[in-house]
Amino acid sequence: MSKVYGIDIGTSTLKISQKDVGVVYNQKNVIAVFDKKKIIATGDEAWAMDGRAPSEIEVIHPVHSGVLAELKKMTEMLDIVFEKIGEEHGKMTGQEFLVAIPSYATEVERKALVDLVAATSVKPKRIRVVDRPIADAVGVGINIRECFGTIIVDVGADTTEISVVSLGGIVVSRMLNFGGNRMDESIISAVRKDYNFLIGRKTAEQIKNTLGSANDPSDDEITMMKAFGRDIISGLPGSIRVDSSFVYFTIQEHLQIIAETVRNILEHCDPEISLDILESGMYLTGGASGIKDFDRLLAGITGLKVTKCPKGSESVAVGLELIAENQKLDFLAEKYEMMQIM
Ligand SMILES: Nc1ncnc2c1ncn2[C@@H]1O[C@H](COP(=O)(O)OP(=O)(O)OP(=O)(O)O)[C@@H](O)[C@H]1O
Ligand SMILES: [Mg+2]
Repeated sequence: MSKVYGIDIGTSTLKISQKDVGVVYNQKNVIAVFDKKKIIATGDEAWAMDGRAPSEIEVIHPVHSGVLAELKKMTEMLDIVFEKIGEEHGKMTGQEFLVAIPSYATEVERKALVDLVAATSVKPKRIRVVDRPIADAVGVGINIRECFGTIIVDVGADTTEISVVSLGGIVVSRMLNFGGNRMDESIISAVRKDYNFLIGRKTAEQIKNTLGSANDPSDDEITMMKAFGRDIISGLPGSIRVDSSFVYFTIQEHLQIIAETVRNILEHCDPEISLDILESGMYLTGGASGIKDFDRLLAGITGLKVTKCPKGSESVAVGLELIAENQKLDFLAEKYEMMQIM
């Protein structure tokens, strides 16, 4: 029997699932290139080199703001990743792929994602596409064929996709062009301003993931961590201690914009759908949904019940896997050629 793989190419992470197996890959979508030509590391291993590599090694993010920017390098990276997956779970040659496509993608961007997978050396025998919010909906556990209306908020690295989904289709979708990465940038700026201290992107991400909260922590709830970097005044390496209240004040503006946008979408929904959403509630997913109390903030602003997906980064890949496994969900995957004719 043929194998089916689901692929979700994110700005921050690359996720791959396999029918009847699960998520077989979830690592940083990063490549380390030596002398502008040779890929020497991919994924988490390449990410570990970021900020540390000598000048002849370049650490590349092939996807920028949710859009494929480095087609050739990304194809080479997929070849390496597919080879690794193949070693563990059996060869990937000549199989079928489901590719997640963001709702905001233009026809050219859609085609680029399909062409990317088609160009890999595993030579897929069939490639079909699934709208990312639909894969998300299935992945978070919504019964998509029966659900009359629900809202899904996917907070990724460079994109936040807010979609109202009903009966297997997208009713409304809005994209904000920021996610967790913007919060990391704000942490870097705030640390520089308040502490006269420079930290790198990885440290900022660690601070957000460890201390980030959508709720101002009370004095006895405040948690702290040590962050390493360079003192701007002395110019020397060192460390500072940051606390969760500082992080809350640094990232809250971004969380607030997301919450207000969700509310705005709800205010413009058809009344029938509004009623359905009131019953089904909201689903919060994407890696940055891991921020503590983000669900509580959204529930407070919208009055809806909010379900947080435990492995937010993987919900799209899980959705693709479920679509591959369940014949009744097969209609959610579209053959790419058919869409081009339309
Ligand atoms: N526990 C956590 N708490 C807060 N943020 C987290 C946590 N874990 C991961 N993140 C953040 O989630 C983001 C990555 O999420 P995800 O893997 O869904 O993004 P992506 O799919 O690559 O991006 P996009 O969909 O925007 O292209 C990063 O900004 C990362 O720092
Ligand atoms: Mg994503």
